Order: sequence, then structure tokens, then C-alpha cells
Amino acid sequence: RTASVSLNPSGTAEVTGDNMFDCVPSLCAHPRSRELIQKALLENDFMKHLEASQILTIMDCMYPTTLAQGCCVIQEGDDGSTVYVLEEGSVEVTKGEQKLCTIEPGKVFGELAILYNCTRTATVTALTDIKLWAIDRQGFQTIMMRTGLLKHSNYMEFLRSVPSFKTLTEDVLSKVADVLEETHYSDGDYIIRQGATGDTFFIISEGQVRVTQQKSASEEPVFLSTLSRGDWFGEQNLYKHNIRSQSFKQLIGGLDNMSNKMYESEEVKARLEAEAAFFSNMS
Ligand code: CMP
Repeated sequence: RTASVSLNPSGTAEVTGDNMFDCVPSLCAHPRSRELIQKALLENDFMKHLEASQILTIMDCMYPTTLAQGCCVIQEGDDGSTVYVLEEGSVEVTKGEQKLCTIEPGKVFGELAILYNCTRTATVTALTDIKLWAIDRQGFQTIMMRTGLLKHSNYMEFLRSVPSFKTLTEDVLSKVADVLEETHYSDGDYIIRQGATGDTFFIISEGQVRVTQQKSASEEPVFLSTLSRGDWFGEQNLYKHNIRSQSFKQLIGGLDNMSNKMYESEEVKARLEAEAAFFSNMS
């Protein structure tokens, strides 16, 4: 890959890749650089919540560049076009006349203007000759969007496959997909403890969940049911403790009277009734 340096209106040189979204894995030959970039992304307050796949793609799309000591890498107030990871040397961050900090290798900078679509919040100047890894705004945002869209379409596929959600409109499913978060548990992990305040509604996409109940402190927990793919749980606590917002109540409004757990004697009837109410509230 090659990189070019273009002057933006204030004369700051922001580095731009030749064809940002080819994503030629330019780092293949630099395992140490990959490690440095990955660590930098994971340590950055604004980027540490990115998914592993997003981090990998960002790493693949980064290209190396160097700038000389004294060079202004970022000028406060400019439109930002690049996110950087510093590999060698050091840079100084200033705002107006005020020095904010010095950045050493292994740190991300220039992320704020891109993530928050604002102008550069500070000026960054090379204190020494520096080596940087860079990714352009467009590539960065495409990765964010592309992986976001991919995730959304995977979630939609999953939700469509849940028998209870079959009659829900695509619009409603899409809203549910927007707020879904994937969580993994190992065999034997507790997902919800009896008596604890719940703040999450779960839908099982893989594996099985055992439901038990302890009638009193002196008794052993009693097995109630096994839930599997497509079953949900956690909704009753949300209701009881009024944890979630109105919009969540609208989504699962019909579930509060139901025993989704299938262990009551009239389990099938209860389930059908609950699902009917569930659908009418969601659509
Ligand atoms: P951005 O606003 O895109 O461009 C300037 C960068 O300087 C900014 O992103 C951050 O990466 C960095 N920066 C701004 N303020 C601080 C600060 N207080 N401490 C460390 N880095 C900062």
C-alpha cells in the first residue's frame, strides 16, 4: 500500500491511503505491529468496546506512514480524516495554548473527530520523527457500519427463526435486533440468580438453560424446566422491578402474565395466551 499526504485548508498534513477500502492486509508481515495496534485499540476508552471482528478489520486496513519531528499531525478545529496509532516516537497534544499531554507508542489518537463527527478537538504535533499506522475516516466508518449491518442481519435471521416471533413484522424484529447484544455463558454458569434484581431479557440462540427454584433457604433448589433455542427468560423480573424503559415494556408487554418456563400444568395454554398477548403488544 502507498500513502499520500494531502494538505487540508489549514495546511495540516493528514495522511490518506490510496484506496482505503481495499483493505489489503498490509500488516501481515508485521506481527509485532499488529499486536501493538490491537493493544492500542483495546486500551482506548472510546474503542475498547469494539468487537473482535471490527478490531481485526481495522488492523487489516491500517497503513504505515512516517512524519518528521515538528510536523503538525492534527490541527485543532480541522475536519478530521484519519485515525492514528503511534508506533514509534512521541507526539504532543495541545488545545489552544494549553499542553494536554504527550502520547507515547502504542496509543490511538485522532479518533474523536471520526467517532463523534466533530472537528479536531486538539492539535497533535510530532515531538520526534514518528512512525504511525493510519486508517481513513471512510474506511473506519465503513467497517463500523459494515460489521454493524452484518450483525443486524444475523440477528434478524435468528429472530425470524424463533417460532414465537414468526408473526412479528420485520419492522418490530428490526427494532429488537437493534437492541440485541450477544452474551456467552459456559456450562454451569449462572445467568440469573433467584432473588437478584434482573435488568436483562434473554433469548436463547444456542445451548440449553436449566431453570431451578429454591422455595426456602433451607431447601434444595428444585428443577423446573429446561429451556433451549428460541425460548426466552428474564422478563418477569424486569416487570417486577420496573427496570426497563417504556419501549421495552411495549416490546414484551404480553409476557408478564405468562409462564414461559413451561413447567406449570397448563403450560401449553399459558404459552399460547402469552404469545398472543406478546404479539399484539409488539405489532
Ligand atoms: P481528535 O479530536 O480527532 O483529534 C485530536 C486528538 O487529540 C483527539 O482526537 C484525541 O485523540 C487527542 N486528544 C484530545 N484531547 C486529549 C486529551 N485531553 N488527552 C489525550 N488526548 C487527547
